[in-house]
Amino acid sequence: MPVITNIEDLRVLAQRRVPRMFYDYADSGSWTESTYRANEADFDRILLRQRVAVNMEGRSTRTTMVGQDVAMPVAIAPTGLTGMQHADGEILAARAAKKFGIPFTLSTMSICSIEDIAEGTDRHPFWFQLYVMRDRAFIENLIDRAKAAGCSALVVTLDLQILGQRHKDLKNGLSAPPKLTVPNVLNMMTKPRWCLGMLGTKRRQFGNIVGHVKGVGDMGSLSEWTAKQFDPRLSWNDVEWIKKRWGGKLILKGVQDEEDARLAVDSGADAVIVSNHGGRQLDGAPSSIAALPHIVDAVGGRIEVHMDGGIRSGQHVLKALALGARGTYIGRAMLYGLGAMGQEGVEKALAIIRNELDLSMAFCGRTDIREVDRSILLPPNY
Ligand code: GLV
Repeated sequence: MPVITNIEDLRVLAQRRVPRMFYDYADSGSWTESTYRANEADFDRILLRQRVAVNMEGRSTRTTMVGQDVAMPVAIAPTGLTGMQHADGEILAARAAKKFGIPFTLSTMSICSIEDIAEGTDRHPFWFQLYVMRDRAFIENLIDRAKAAGCSALVVTLDLQILGQRHKDLKNGLSAPPKLTVPNVLNMMTKPRWCLGMLGTKRRQFGNIVGHVKGVGDMGSLSEWTAKQFDPRLSWNDVEWIKKRWGGKLILKGVQDEEDARLAVDSGADAVIVSNHGGRQLDGAPSSIAALPHIVDAVGGRIEVHMDGGIRSGQHVLKALALGARGTYIGRAMLYGLGAMGQEGVEKALAIIRNELDLSMAFCGRTDIREVDRSILLPPNY
């Protein structure tokens, strides 16, 4: 067993343990993957300002996101097919988040269902991410199920009414459950831990959907299903309707543009997530960390600004906070931990990020994460 000291170690182990189709699904972007790469690479352009001889005792990474206490400003991002990285993946990740004191966000396109998470965490509140589909009765049903499960925030994704062109998924014929083709079976045979886990669970399909949408037994390929079911006419009126129906904390995910950020504020949302969907939708869009300061300025403190995309370390979290984010989300960093070592791996990923955040904050001369602002950064032309 290799010694794990950073998120990259978890990624390498996940790549060894997770079947190629699902590892590729997590670790890829759309088209040329330029935005996917920029999400992480652009963090390197931001320089931290080291301070010395400052009392570093009694440090705290605790803060709030949409009014809820968090042990650090990091939530688990909604990621599709998480239960295919590891058997019962969403339940395991939700348990790790509960133990750590941070929010877990369940994707509409999860393998474990809303009810599975509520039951698997002894009804600890989690966040639910909603995709808007053509069938409004199904959306109402999803919102009601999230309410019944005690979800404490609804995250509405605005940037995936059509699916970005993801070459690896198209080539691999991504589906859940995987089709038992010769190449898939041969590849799965090299991942015995994963196979054993999957044989031991009944959760191998999209748990929020199969059995809840009339006529959907097997969803076939993700791209086909998305094209048929997701509503390309999604508008701000729908956001208003969802807000009314939900009645609780509302977070809008996928905002990249200043005009959209102002419309999001007008819609009455509690927060926006600056996001390019992990570089999986519009390739050629700016990295999230580059877009963040523009959105922070447009929002002007009226609601919280969160961000995701490229967070692989606590330093990345610190830089996002310095540029005005109230909180961040980790998708792949969590998936790597899960694929590598199940719940223990997700806990490991969270511990790594918290430790890096805590140390980097201290080197910048701060002891309380709530006091972090642009003054911990050097000027861009330094
Ligand atoms: C979302 O579900 C994605 O595949 O990016």
